[in-house]
Amino acid sequence: MAQTPSSVDHVRDQLAGAGYLSDSGTATVVHLAGALDKPVLIEGPAGTGKTQLAKSVALMTGKPLIRLQCYEGLDESKAIYEWDYRRQLLQLQLHQGQSSDLTTAGIFGEDFLLSRPLLAAIRSTEPVVLLIDEVDRLDMESEALLLEVLSDYQISIPELGTVTARHIPQVFLTSNNTRDLSEALKRRCLYLYLGYPSVDREAEIVRLHVPELGEHLAQEIAALVATLRSADLKKPPSISESVDWARTLLALGAGELTDDVTRQTLNVLLKYERDITVAVSELSLA
Ligand SMILES: Nc1ncnc2c1ncn2[C@@H]1O[C@H](COP(=O)(O)OP(=O)(O)O)[C@@H](O)[C@H]1O
Ligand SMILES: [Mg+2]
Repeated sequence: MAQTPSSVDHVRDQLAGAGYLSDSGTATVVHLAGALDKPVLIEGPAGTGKTQLAKSVALMTGKPLIRLQCYEGLDESKAIYEWDYRRQLLQLQLHQGQSSDLTTAGIFGEDFLLSRPLLAAIRSTEPVVLLIDEVDRLDMESEALLLEVLSDYQISIPELGTVTARHIPQVFLTSNNTRDLSEALKRRCLYLYLGYPSVDREAEIVRLHVPELGEHLAQEIAALVATLRSADLKKPPSISESVDWARTLLALGAGELTDDVTRQTLNVLLKYERDITVAVSELSLA
């Protein structure tokens, strides 16, 4: 497997062009995933750019993004496919008396299938990026729904047979790490952990989203947010909250971070009363 530094740099540049600042670890995994046709499992705390990475890969490759948002209770009919019962019924009525054989009436043909995200990705006539978002919200049993797609890029439909991908989709799964995922799922994927970025990288990300922001203020924002993340908070601020905070400071016309301005705007970063109290004391703002 030729993995030249230049191909990794190329992916990094392309990602940056699609609005995503990555380190070489992230770019390497994205590069390998494409080269090996492997899904990528991205784990890490909320708001560290997991979902955005899949979106940016879609953007940089020009492939449509198909997204399966996971939640507890997600089942086959929402994740993979469902038969279009109404149309099937109609077809049966049309064929009434002509045939007692359901398959002869044609009601288990592809035309009567309603594709949900996984089948849509497999059946797509063009290459797509498939995002299976927040997979840790599924219970263990529902996770099994994903395995056939992830290992063989195919879906077995009892009445119809096996549908195989025309183009292997580029698959990203994200997890906020609320529970351990099955070994079976992990085995099929390349693994990428996305933690909080360094202060410099976060300042860069914030400026990417809020270009009007000065470099100095961006650094101050990133440094303060990093301090808060090391405090004992129920919900540490995410990158999106740093970006929101930068916009807030701009809207208030704040040129720098004074204690007053910080205290007045902590509610943009922190969403629990207790966390705000902890932050005020941690930053000696009282
Ligand atoms: N490396 C990055 N480059 C550019 N924007 C980023 C980066 N990481 C995170 N973001 C921004 O931070 C926000 C949260 O990212 P998101 O992907 O939704 O987080 P997650 O899915 O990990 O919870 C998004 O608005 C995203 O654009
Ligand atoms: Mg997400």
